[in-house]
This record gives sequence, structure tokens and C-alpha cells, in this order.
Amino acid sequence: EKGGYEHFMLKEIHEQPKAIQDTYRGRLLRNEAIIKMAGIEDNMKKFLNANRIIVVACGTSWHAGLVAEYIFEDLARIPVEVEYASEFRYRNPVITENDVLIAISQSGETADTLAAIKLAKSKGAFVFGVCNVVGSSIARESHAGAYTHAGPEIGVASTKAFTTQITVLTLIALRLARAKGTISSSDFRQHLLELEMIPGKVEQALKSDDLIKNIANIYKDAKNMLYLGRGFNFPVALEGALKLKEISYIHAEGYPAAEMKHGPIALIDENMPVIVIATKKGHYEKVVSNIQEIKSRKGKIIGIVTEGDVQVRQLADHVIEVPESLEALSPLLTTIPLQLLSYHIAVMLGKNVDQPRNLAKSVTVE
Ligand code: M6R
Repeated sequence: EKGGYEHFMLKEIHEQPKAIQDTYRGRLLRNEAIIKMAGIEDNMKKFLNANRIIVVACGTSWHAGLVAEYIFEDLARIPVEVEYASEFRYRNPVITENDVLIAISQSGETADTLAAIKLAKSKGAFVFGVCNVVGSSIARESHAGAYTHAGPEIGVASTKAFTTQITVLTLIALRLARAKGTISSSDFRQHLLELEMIPGKVEQALKSDDLIKNIANIYKDAKNMLYLGRGFNFPVALEGALKLKEISYIHAEGYPAAEMKHGPIALIDENMPVIVIATKKGHYEKVVSNIQEIKSRKGKIIGIVTEGDVQVRQLADHVIEVPESLEALSPLLTTIPLQLLSYHIAVMLGKNVDQPRNLAKSVTVE
């Protein structure tokens, strides 16, 4: 059942090219240059008239929501707020009939996310679900939705659910951008083309496995790790840190790279590995100067870079390359080495990768 892999997590990491493809298949029609999603078409007015989109989710799904915030605002120019479902529901939030709430949940059973939906519905908001499990509670409670087609995710640490959530949300953002006219037809076509190239590029990124294993071996005994990223890749830094915490029990924090100087930089010394997402286009020069700041404090730098990168390679202790893509799509690639890094560290430390202590696959308690 693990398809020849040692753990479900590793199998699921490797399933991502197919899972992403399954998620856009039938929706992304490149020859016609359209995106077809019934849940969006049927409710187009609600989306176009929305004052804002509120995303509610927990854990990794919340990170996918943060990536979506950057994509929606950039492409479709719709204001987005991303909320932890648990905080949102308990703080007497301002919700109106002109709000669209997108709930993201792999399992579709997360109690706080479900409760947040019910609250939003009671205030008259339109609720759109992005779930992986067909017929799940959140899918049923939503007014409309779009499934991720990741297939069953067994490992407690979410991997393919994350990348397929980003895929669905990207499709939605592109569809809305087209309807609103905030994207030109040539840009739109280019995004479709590039999105179709993502599965092959994920495949390519997975080939760094041996290199990542070596890096894992060097840093597996670290007590702390810092993950930094900017823009679209800031949430990827958060997700990388969560993956490491969950399965290897090493303390890790994700930060927007520019925030480092407001506090976390005090932590940096020769014992602190810092994973920096430094792909081209994503404020590259700024990230390079963040890397210099870490280096001058003797931090160990693991750079996630674009294929062929020269500048970061000169500064970093290690670099892991991912293929080039559009900036908005880069999280689908940069997240892959981070998943593999935590996987290998956890295996080397002898941890129970698929069922980490204290965690459940779906959190149905509040
Ligand atoms: O099923 P959901 O997407 O609603 O689950 C949300 C979180 O519980 C989940 O993403 C959790 O953080 C994972 N263990 C992360 O790997």
C-alpha cells in the first residue's frame, strides 16, 4: 500500500506531480485558454461583488491560504484576509453578506474550520470549500466548492494536500482575474502554460533527494532551525518549519526574511542552520542581502535557489536548486525540498514519520 516507499509521507511527496495534474485536469483548458470550474462559474457574481475574501483554515491549510492571499491580490486584485479558524470564530469577527469565505481543509473535518463556516453562514456570507475528502463535513456545509484531487493522504504531515490546495486556489485566482480583467490575455495564457509545466518541474525538484539527504545528515542534530522567505515564498518558510517541527521534533520557526532584523537575528550563530528561499524574481536582491547578514554572523545557510543560480551559491553553505517558473507558481516548487529535508531528518533521528507523537490526521476537537 506504500507503493514501494518506506513511508506514506515519502510516497505522498512523490505523488505530487500526479496530484497537481489531477487537480487541474479538466479545469485548465489551455487550447481554449479558459479555466472551467463549476463552483466558480455558478457563483461568479458573488465573487466579483465581494468586498473581500476571508480565508479560514488551520495548520498547513492555513499556509496554503497565505499563499493564496498573495496570488489573489496580485492577479485578481481582491483583498484577502487569512485567518486561523480558531481565532476567527472566537473573536466576534465582522462578517457581512458581501463577504466570501473560503474554507481550506484536507480532511474536511477540522472542528474549528467547520465552526468558522457555520458562523460565517449565520451572518449571511457565501462559503466556498476547498477540501480533499469528498463528502466531508466542510464540503457538505459549504455553499459551493472545488475539490483538490490529491487522493488519500495518510501521513499526518500534510504534503500533497498543500500543493494541490495551492493549485486549486491558483486556478480560482486566475479565473477571477480573467473575469475582472485584471490580467491580460497573454499573461493569462502564460500562467496556464506554466501551470501545466509544474508537474514536470516538481519531478525535477524531487531529483535533489540525494543532495538533500546529505544536508539532512549534517544538520539532523541541530536544536533549532530558522526558515526565511519573502513574498509568495514567505508562507512556504512557515510550512517548511511546521513540517520539521511535526515529524522531527526539532524546534523551527518560519519568518519573513525582512523581519529577521527585528528580533530573530539575535539567535544567529554558528549553531543555527537557516534555510532561505532565494529564488529569482522574488525580491532576489533583498534576499541576497538577508543572506549576507546571516553569513556575517556565522549562521549556516541552506539556500533554495533557481536552477543556475550563482550569487547565492557563492554565499551559502549549501544550495538546493528548483526549476525556474513564474513567481506566483514558485511555492509549488520551493516547498518540495523542504518536505524532503524534514522527512530525511526525521527518518535519521528514528522518529515515527507517518504518525508523529501527539498529533492526529484530522483534528475534530475544538
Ligand atoms: O484537514 P485539515 O487540512 O483541515 O487539517 C488542518 C491541520 O490540522 C493540518 O494541516 C496539520 O497542521 C497537519 N498535520 C500539517 O502537516
